[in-house]
Amino acid sequence: MSQQFMSMLRKAQQELAAERILEAAGTARHLVEGFPAMADSWIVAGLVARRQGRDADAEQAFRTAANRAPKHPEPWRQLGILYQVAGRLREAEAAYAQGLRAAPQDAALNNNLGTTLRALGRSKDAEQALRNAVRKRADYAMAWQNLGNCLAEQGRHDDAMEGWEKAWTLDPSLADSGLALARTLLNNRKFDKAEAVYRKILARDPDNALAQRGLRWLRRRNVPVWHFPMMNDTPRNEAYRAAIRRAAQRGGRLLDIGTGSGLLSMMAAEAGFQEIHTCEMQPEVAEAARAVIAANGLSDRINVIAKKSTDVKVGKDIPGPADVLVTETFDSALLGEYILPTMDHARHALLAPGAQVIPRGGSLKAALISGEVLRQQFYAGRSMGFDLSAFNQFSPLGVSLVLDCYPHEMVSAEQEVFRFDLMSPHPAEKRVIRLAADRDATVIGVAVWLSLDLDDETTFENKPGATGLASGWHHGVSFFLEPREMKSGDTVEVIASHDRVVVEIVVT
Ligand SMILES: C[S@@+](CC[C@H](N)C(=O)[O-])C[C@H]1O[C@@H](n2cnc3c(N)ncnc32)[C@H](O)[C@@H]1O
Repeated sequence: MSQQFMSMLRKAQQELAAERILEAAGTARHLVEGFPAMADSWIVAGLVARRQGRDADAEQAFRTAANRAPKHPEPWRQLGILYQVAGRLREAEAAYAQGLRAAPQDAALNNNLGTTLRALGRSKDAEQALRNAVRKRADYAMAWQNLGNCLAEQGRHDDAMEGWEKAWTLDPSLADSGLALARTLLNNRKFDKAEAVYRKILARDPDNALAQRGLRWLRRRNVPVWHFPMMNDTPRNEAYRAAIRRAAQRGGRLLDIGTGSGLLSMMAAEAGFQEIHTCEMQPEVAEAARAVIAANGLSDRINVIAKKSTDVKVGKDIPGPADVLVTETFDSALLGEYILPTMDHARHALLAPGAQVIPRGGSLKAALISGEVLRQQFYAGRSMGFDLSAFNQFSPLGVSLVLDCYPHEMVSAEQEVFRFDLMSPHPAEKRVIRLAADRDATVIGVAVWLSLDLDDETTFENKPGATGLASGWHHGVSFFLEPREMKSGDTVEVIASHDRVVVEIVVT
């Protein structure tokens, strides 16, 4: 190879690398005119033509290069890239295959063939090519990423993790591999590992929106969404505030079990309680409550203890037993947040004799319910002239929803299902009540809601229609097997039971 050819070739390559395309075009012209037998002259001419958007000329130049040096992989690689970018995938596959015949060890050709086969939907063949690429070059980060993506496309996310992990470790700028790895770790509930990956991505690129979102998802994953409507539930908040204000007249040490946002403790501070302690079992929620309380200038009035109430120690976390206990640790069926075990512990370990508990008790109430929209939501009947009711074997046994969102009617008097006095122990219970239809109606089942006796004066009830849409508490509906045509006076037996945590309402 002449020295002149070599220096001209180098010049053209440098001009291309520096994006000096016009100069590169001139040099390429000299190369093909002066050294038409050399494959590299045509490759450079093809590369220039591609940069100038002249794909047909580029294709011609690469093909000429391939004719000049059929055993040289580079013309085939460049042809393959040209076809692949243009979406001419079968031609790209053929070009890469030719190149591989010339240089079977070429990792980049295997990688490119793999991505082409992936695009053609031939994932198994693609996997093979990509595995060849990483076998030939174990530090080929992009090929590992492609292999990971290819395996994921086959639904083999666990296998894909190796590819993504290798890619991202070899080249941390391949954030997509890190993100895909973190997402799969999340799906596999490997939360700590996923968090570490997100943090590492953000250490490199603090603005990476997907990593930020992943971390945010992790932080909120244990915090139920009902916190929001609950905080906005004005009737609930007002009922608590009224009882807290009355209790403040007698004063003393107040303990709020279940801080949440800190709302009830802040109401206690506003009402004049001088010593307020509150415990929260979810550490991230306790931390947020401290921020909320600080934002309201009440940090020196409220002691937030990041513990479950049953781990709180008098003499350590709080200086002495509480004179007033306020708690809102009730799920829609009252017992699901373990209020009975919580109170069993609080009564003997956290409260002073004669302490006041807000609420002092609560109950679950029930009534028969009918409603065409609800029937359509949960049962099949006649549709398009066909009887679909055999499908009702899959109707839900019960649902939890905000009944105010669905037109409905209560078609019996309401009845108490269970009543709890929070100052007394309550064993598991089972009882049967009867509900009588007060009109002719198509009845779908029984609606259940809660009622809290905050103190002697204030009761809060989330009876449908009573509180509006912003409530964290849902209504329960237990369904019949099929909607039932009832006449006024017909009765239904309801079997209600609880094991101190889970309430079950069965309509017969
Ligand atoms: C329904 S929210 C009420 C939040 C706040 N008190 C309010 O009324 O706006 C109940 C909160 O209590 C917490 N919690 C439930 N049982 C608890 C317990 N035994 N000890 C400490 N926290 C508890 C939950 O994690 C949740 O944040």
